[in-house]
Amino acid sequence: MGIRITPSILNSDVSDLRGELAKIAGADWAHVDVMDNHFVPNLTWGLPVVEAILPVSPIPLDIHLMITDADRWAPAYAEAGAQSVTFHAEAAAAPIRLAREIRKHGARAGMALRPASPVEPYVELLGEIDMLLIMTVEPGFGGQSFLDSMLPKIRAARRAVTDRELDLWIQVDGGISRSTIERAADAGADTFVAGSAVYGAEDAAAEVEALRSLAQARHEH
Ligand code: DX5
Ligand code: ZN
Repeated sequence: MGIRITPSILNSDVSDLRGELAKIAGADWAHVDVMDNHFVPNLTWGLPVVEAILPVSPIPLDIHLMITDADRWAPAYAEAGAQSVTFHAEAAAAPIRLAREIRKHGARAGMALRPASPVEPYVELLGEIDMLLIMTVEPGFGGQSFLDSMLPKIRAARRAVTDRELDLWIQVDGGISRSTIERAADAGADTFVAGSAVYGAEDAAAEVEALRSLAQARHEH
């Protein structure tokens, strides 16, 4: 099973996004948190900023939409050229139709679950998506503590994926650092968002590699 590190630029120096993206050229994707101040109590950026950074990013963009009107907006990010577009299950009126539309535009379709949302109601639609994002903090802000109570959900998701022989990535987002990534990897996550751990480090590129080797070592077990 492959490992992917997808640093979040949320807590980077946003006055220099081009420079901040260059620091994580060795990562797999750059995770971009779109917040609308409705789905979450915070506001970040939207399609125009994503369109502006797409051509200057050394790595593909992984869009995490924390917005209420996912059905309306998600396909536009795929059309703009984002490699991966993730909507929240709680926000999508028609998740299967939405996932198909994202894929039709050539992007990977992801679906995210807030901490309070169980995975069980969604197992039958896992075949329609390319990635399941399990939030390991309450969405809205970087720098929060990893919720260990999400580990059973990660395990349940991994079991569902294995049982159905699906080719689906399991991403975790929130509080991922050197001290938590191994627990998430052990539970079955293979794709890791890390915001403050990477951009708060002295050397962001080295931090990406440190996280990668910790996760990889767990998967080799
Ligand atoms: C939170 C965002 C995360 C955030 C992670 O709602 O979805 O992507 O940037 O930040 P850390 O890694 O600091 O928890
Ligand atoms: Zn995120």
